[in-house]
Amino acid sequence: MTIDLAALPEDFLWGTATSAYQIEGAVAEDGRSPSIWDTFSHTPGKIDNGDHGDIACDHYHRWREDIGLMRQLGTNAYRLSIAWPRVVPGGDGPVNAKGLDFYDQLIDALLEAGITPSVTLYHWDLPQVLQDRGGWPARDTAHHFASYASVVAERLGDRVQHWTTLNEPLCSAWIGHLEGRMAPGFADLEVAVRASYHLLLGHGLAVQAIRAAAPGAQVGIVNNLSSVEAATDRPEDVAAARRLDGHTNRWWLDPVHGRGFPADMREVYGVELPELPGDLETMAQPLDWLGLNYYFPSTVADDPSGPAPRVRTVRRLGVPRTGMDWEVDASGIERLLLRLTDDYGARKLYVTENGSAYPDVVRPDGTVDDPERTRYLEQHLAACAAAAGKGVPLAGYFAWSLLDNFEWAYGYDKRFGLVHVDYETQRRTVKGTGHRYADIIRAHGERRRSAA
Ligand code: IFM
Repeated sequence: MTIDLAALPEDFLWGTATSAYQIEGAVAEDGRSPSIWDTFSHTPGKIDNGDHGDIACDHYHRWREDIGLMRQLGTNAYRLSIAWPRVVPGGDGPVNAKGLDFYDQLIDALLEAGITPSVTLYHWDLPQVLQDRGGWPARDTAHHFASYASVVAERLGDRVQHWTTLNEPLCSAWIGHLEGRMAPGFADLEVAVRASYHLLLGHGLAVQAIRAAAPGAQVGIVNNLSSVEAATDRPEDVAAARRLDGHTNRWWLDPVHGRGFPADMREVYGVELPELPGDLETMAQPLDWLGLNYYFPSTVADDPSGPAPRVRTVRRLGVPRTGMDWEVDASGIERLLLRLTDDYGARKLYVTENGSAYPDVVRPDGTVDDPERTRYLEQHLAACAAAAGKGVPLAGYFAWSLLDNFEWAYGYDKRFGLVHVDYETQRRTVKGTGHRYADIIRAHGERRRSAA
């Protein structure tokens, strides 16, 4: 499959991404306190096979080896998240020096390896103590988030330029508080809407805090957006698609772009927002870039008696699917990149996550052959390059994920890594897709050198 590498800028960031709870392990070491995910994953019945993140990929102890893998892949960027309960175990207040030291040394080692760190402050691991005080549905959590952001930016801001406030706030709010499939596991529309509001308020406050602590920081937010199509052209299905677009896309994009919360969705939810004067301005801090996490598109029909947003997903026949049962359709990533550019005026974009899970096996010769994942990678990179060719200011791509890891409610069975992890031995093996990614990165670098 051809990828138009010439369409990508010379200083393109070729990265991989992970998050703290999914890879670090060491949940009770060096002063880390429990997060909502420790609680959730240890609640019987919440996670497939009773899995949890206690050890995960043991990255807390094996990070040097993992940086070696990044070098082997030839990546020049790495998106990681900081565990709030490691740095501020009480959620607010005293800082845990050992927690910050861990990230400090990691950042130094990345830079030494020529890898640009891109730091996410919140990838779902709220300190449990803050959940006990109300969690995201409570306004104070937004302020505690900003204080924590300031602590981290003060310590790392001399070396880290790329900052993300929130990763996929949709999952925190909708899956964690409306569907109950993720921590903290609530299923209540009113609570979920309040959580969504305070997440975006926390985002705005954190942008201010990061900029105050680290002038020159490049700050953005990462959303998992969906390209939504109606299953038929029946007006009810077209309206359903509009509602899902509101639920997954506009609810998260509009407030940070100064457009407020979409009126149609406020009506769909019918929940009063906990709004105070000035909040919408706070949420709409100008951003340096936007991050897109893309996995699959959605085709939907009306579901009049279903819960908000009253839509039902329709399976398209003949479309390949990953091990997550997610459709493989790279046209969605191109459409979303164009939309962020044309409708939201993005001046810089990163694909901050994109990848696929398949049931990999290590062959007797020690290799992992994963042609479906390789095809997925190539198709999506080709679509990214096509978008760049049409004028999308795409500055980087981060493959999800560097390593197989703890895939939340699915536990360890779902493997997204470019590198296979044997959880018994913690042995890492670069998969075929990892080798292919390295080839693509190399080819892009060679083009650049030959053009110079
Ligand atoms: O593993 C997750 C990640 O934590 C957030 N984005 C989607 C990935 C795959 O489900």
